[in-house]
Amino acid sequence: MENIEALREEVLAEVENAADLAVLEDVRISALGKKGRITGLMKNLGKMDPDQRREFGQTLNAVKDQVAGAIDTRKTALEDASLEARLVGERIDVTLSSRPDETAGRIHPISQTIDEIVSIFGEMGFALAEGPDVEDDFHNFTALNIPPEHPAREMQDTFYLPEREDGSRLVLRTHTSPVQIRTMQNKTPPIRIIAPGRTYRSDSDMTHTPMFHQVEGLVIDKKTHMGHLKGCLLEFVKTYFELDDVPVRYRPSFFPFTEPSAEMDIGCSRKGGELKIGEGDDWLEILGCGMVHPRVLSACGLDPEEYQGFAFGMGIERIAMLKYGIPDLRTFFDTDLRWLKHYGFVPLDVPNMVRG
Ligand code: DAH
Repeated sequence: MENIEALREEVLAEVENAADLAVLEDVRISALGKKGRITGLMKNLGKMDPDQRREFGQTLNAVKDQVAGAIDTRKTALEDASLEARLVGERIDVTLSSRPDETAGRIHPISQTIDEIVSIFGEMGFALAEGPDVEDDFHNFTALNIPPEHPAREMQDTFYLPEREDGSRLVLRTHTSPVQIRTMQNKTPPIRIIAPGRTYRSDSDMTHTPMFHQVEGLVIDKKTHMGHLKGCLLEFVKTYFELDDVPVRYRPSFFPFTEPSAEMDIGCSRKGGELKIGEGDDWLEILGCGMVHPRVLSACGLDPEEYQGFAFGMGIERIAMLKYGIPDLRTFFDTDLRWLKHYGFVPLDVPNMVRG
């Protein structure tokens, strides 16, 4: 009996001192396991007379239960402590405000302008669409009603890739308009998309770089008309330039993929050599637009008797220069850190409808 009492004290102390779950498991095995110390005492029962056996058996069982209970309690305590330690270790203070890092990078004005455009048209219900930079002839030209012999192909100073086995040549897209085609081929109207992206033309001077950016807009439905086009673009320029009112005018123009076609000008003044958007006596061209040509709709498998809509295309560098007063186009792609620091944007200044 003394034996049992001593063992009980010993095992309970071991349980209490077990510093982690692995040690506790070792204690359990050494006491209650098949070859454990308490289990070992059970084996003596057989040699005892009935009275002795009953008394000894009862005591032993009580000790077994007590030890098992103590192990459970200790196990729960150790598990709680380890969870608590993990929670403390992984704690993040979400209320801590960020510290602007002056040495951190800047958002390029092109990225910023694209974000602004997407945000403004997004509010109007436009979805974002994308297409590949390397296009085939069909999407970049033919489906846009620009047949092989059409002078627009030369006009656009296309970059061609080497001839393929079948004699065809892929191109670096000369505009974002092929995204119109891809969208109409894959979606049933109503369609309302905006497609910003890189475009390429073999041209380089003060106002042209071989790679530049455009944004394409496309709206197709059953009754979409030119009034919608005008309202939509007016809303865009007012929001983008953050002005209550911007005079706009539409001049007749020509694009193979729209009929009628127009160019949109916005009002400005150039008093004292300073360009100011808004009220003034001068005009500035900012985009091309028109009603999608029936042949373009047909080329995409849409019935021109059922569907109609408008499209527009705008140069992103140009409207970024106008809004942010950047005088030279080529500097956009000089990768000059001083320039980026001056014209770039702090990463956390995410643009939205009210603040570019
Ligand atoms: N793709 C034309 C260009 O690169 C721009 C353009 C004009 C796009 C009129 C349009 C449009 O969608 O309707 O010059």
